[in-house]
Formats: sequence, C-alpha cells, structure tokens
Amino acid sequence: MSFYVTTPIYYVNAAPHLGHAYSTIGADILARHQRQRGEDVFFLTGTDEHGEPVALAADNEGVTPRELADRNAARFQELMPRINASNDFFIRTSDPEHHAKVQEILTRVKDNGHVYEGTYEGWYCPRCADFKTDAELEDGNRCPIHHIELTRETEDNWFFRLSTFEEPLKRLYEERPDFVMPRHRYNEALSFIRGGLQDVSLTRAKIRWGVEVPWDPEQVFYVWFDALLNYYTALSYAREGEDLVDRFWPATFHVIGKDILKFHCVFWPAMLMAADLPLPEHVFVHGYLLMDGEKMSKSLGNVLDPFEVMDRFGTDALRFYCFRDVTFGQDGSVSTTQFEARYETELANELGNLASRTTNMVARYRDGFVPEVELDAALAASFEGLPEEVAGLLDRADITPALEAIWQRVRRLNAYVADTEPWQLAKDDSRAGELDRALASLIEGVRVIAVLLHPYLPDTVEKLQAALGTDEVEYAAAGFGARRLERVEKVEPLFPRFAPA
Ligand code: MSP
Repeated sequence: MSFYVTTPIYYVNAAPHLGHAYSTIGADILARHQRQRGEDVFFLTGTDEHGEPVALAADNEGVTPRELADRNAARFQELMPRINASNDFFIRTSDPEHHAKVQEILTRVKDNGHVYEGTYEGWYCPRCADFKTDAELEDGNRCPIHHIELTRETEDNWFFRLSTFEEPLKRLYEERPDFVMPRHRYNEALSFIRGGLQDVSLTRAKIRWGVEVPWDPEQVFYVWFDALLNYYTALSYAREGEDLVDRFWPATFHVIGKDILKFHCVFWPAMLMAADLPLPEHVFVHGYLLMDGEKMSKSLGNVLDPFEVMDRFGTDALRFYCFRDVTFGQDGSVSTTQFEARYETELANELGNLASRTTNMVARYRDGFVPEVELDAALAASFEGLPEEVAGLLDRADITPALEAIWQRVRRLNAYVADTEPWQLAKDDSRAGELDRALASLIEGVRVIAVLLHPYLPDTVEKLQAALGTDEVEYAAAGFGARRLERVEKVEPLFPRFAPA
C-alpha cells in the first residue's frame, strides 16, 4: 500500500525554529514506521515562499523576495538532515514546475465555475497572510495572533466560491469521522463549517511576489492556495521523468499545526472538490510547543533553537523529547530543564544503561555469545501484542502513546535485570542455566526495543544495532522471539553526559 505524508511548507521569512522541527519530526516518525512495515512511502516537506509575509520581510532587510527566499530555504534544507528527516523531496513553491501546475489546476477550478470577479473589503493581517472578520479582532483592531494593528483593505480580486462547498463539506465530515484528527480538532473544523462559509479571495492585486494568474496577469494567486497545492504539485515533478500522482495521491496524512487548521480542514478539501481531485485521507492537527505559555515563534522572540539543542544533546534527544513530554495533538510546555531531566532519567539511565548493562554482561559472562536457550516466558508474555499495538497507534499518528507503550517495555526490561540479578547468578555455576536464560531474554528484549524505536531514535538504534550485530529494522523483526542474535559486543555509551552550556 502507498503511504504519503506531508508537513506544512514553512515560510521563508524567518529561520527554522523548534516548531518547524516538531512538525517535520512527527511526519518523519510516521514515514519511517510505515517504511518498516514495507509500505510504499513518500514523505514531503518544503518551503512556502510567496506572499506578503515574505515580501515584507525582504523589504525590511533591503533584499529582493527571491534573495530572502533562497537564503532561508537553504536553512530549511539544511535543517532536514540535521533532524534526520527522511523526506523524499523538498518542494520550494518558487519552483517553476510548481507554478505551472498551480496555474493549470486553478484554471480548471475557474473553468468548473467556482471563480468570479469581485471586490474585497475587510481586515487583513500581512503577517498571517490572512483575512480577519470583525469578531476575530482584538481590541484596537488588532490581529489576535500578532497583536499588530490592522488596516481595512479594498481590492478587486477573483473570488473562490467557498460558500457553495458548505454542504459538501458537512457531508464529508459526516461520512469520514477520521478526516481530521484528533477528535477535538475535527469538532473545531466542523463547527467552523457549520458557522457558515463565505467566499474567499483567490487572488491578490497588490502583491507581485507569487504565482501569476493566467487569465489576469495583473494579479497573483493568494499565497494560501498556491501553498496548499504543493502537496499535489510536488508529485508531478519530484522524480524527473516520472509522475507520482497516481502512485501517491490522495495523501494519507497531512501533518499540520493547529494554527493552520482552517486552511487545511476547510479551504483545502473545498479546493480539491472544485478541481475534481480526490481528498486526502487524514489531516492530523498537532498542538503548539509552548515556552512560558506563549506559542514559540520568531515574531514573539522566545525561540528555542533546534540547532543549538542538537549540538548539545544530539538529534535523537530532540526527537525523543518533543514527543515524550508533550502528547502529539495537544499543546504543552517545553523547557530546557525538563529536556535535561528526560535526557538523564530516561535516555541515559533507562535506555542507555539497559543497553550497556545487557551487552556488557553477555560480553563478560558469555564472551559475547548469546546463549541458545529458551526465553523467559513471563518476559515474552509482556511483549506479546506490542508490535500490533504500536502499529495500530501509529496508523492514527498517536506518536506519544506508541512511544509510551515501547517505553513501558524498556522499564520492564530494567525491572527484569533487577529481579534476576545476573551478576549474582554468575557467581554460582549451578545457576548457569538461569543466567543463560536471563541474558538471552534480555538481549532479545533489547533487540525488539531497537526495532520499535527506529522511527524515533534512528541514530541511536543504528549504534545499538551495530553492537547487536544486526541492522534489521523491518517490522517482521519486531516480535519478541522473532529473531535470534548470535554474538554481541559491548555498546558504546548511547547518551553520554552532555557538556554544560
Ligand atoms: N507556510 C504556512 C503553511 C503552509 S502549508 C500549505 C505556515 N508556515 S510556518 O512557517 O508559519 O509554519 C507553520 C507550522 O510550523 C505550523 O503549522 C506548525 O506545524 C509548525 N509550528 C510553528 N510553530 C510551532 C510551535 N510553537 N509549536 C509547534 N509547531 C509549530 O504556516
């Protein structure tokens, strides 16, 4: 089966921050997991380069939008390998192939009768690149997100008949209760639709930086429609000479943050219906990582730099922490203190020690040879059904509960070490059989944990598996007792003490 997962494409008006890394790592975990299961996976990320936010930022810096876009897109491209994102393509909406495809699809939307000429009058936030209703404004006609004062704008635009999709969208939500996940976001989107939909501007007249409207070259497409279409256009040119649309469209998961719910859960399905294209299977909406209670963003200035975090703690520590401390799908606070605590107690002590103690003992007591004996039945029982449980959770993008299920077994293995006390067994020759069983069972547990943790901690698992003498991460190997390792080596420290800042 095919599995197509996307991240939001990121604005190039600022440098990457932890929020961007968060969405991308979330999508990456899903992509890696599905690859383990042998699915045909395509994972897309990229940059959103048009529109007023970028044009304004470029103006402020005294460079052209393209210069700013090139400079910052490069920083996002650099971020991907650093966070170990296994994306199959990186789209830039300034790609000429994207332009051509956007023009083709939106012309079809017009030909299908969903576009008309009109005049827009209302509030507009250039930082959001979004129109605001009176009800949404804060006191003093301010943007509720950026707190800047907004002006009323009047513009002759081409409009998209969003209102005519109110009923079809309600039907969609009725028929597909998992179109938007988690449930509270589904409810939010549905109540937005039930509140009544108004037509929206499809084009902008005052901006030059964007995809030109083929039937009215004085205008460019409103950046959101150009941006949303990236999920579809990328498939037509990601592989030279190959069109991946039939293979991967519709997308399985669009992973997004809650700030862009309206665009993905309302505008996007309506636009696809208007273009006669199939709808994605799921939009997964995650929450915000908060620092001091405010959404982390460049404009608010409280940015936790993912590059700095990774320099200090390593990539996997970042990947782990983001999904461990805050449930994917909910808001939650992150902090350096919590980060350090998790690193030490869970990564270094629980996982790191388990791996080193286990491999150490086999090296010491059995010369590295894994005893060929029957495995401990009670330990085996506590792993029963685990791969299915994790797969079931990750099929719904429940990344945090899946990690918790795996981590319970990490703890179970540590408890097993404490209970069996192999170092005591080693003192008594008459208990050699018990020692054999304890060591073989522990190694098997660690092997399984490694397979299951691969999507979360790819680097760590690679190191651990090198010591275990295997590189198999296929899901068939995720069952306790599914494989038998022969020889292991002492693992290098997986989570060394970090240097003080
Ligand atoms: N360019 C649009 C998206 C277009 S998608 C067709 C955009 N870009 S953005 O650069 O502002 O990135 C927004 C996304 O980054 C959010 O939807 C979210 O996925 C992620 N995050 C940004 N800040 C975040 C947090 N503080 N916490 C979690 N995720 C955050 O909007």
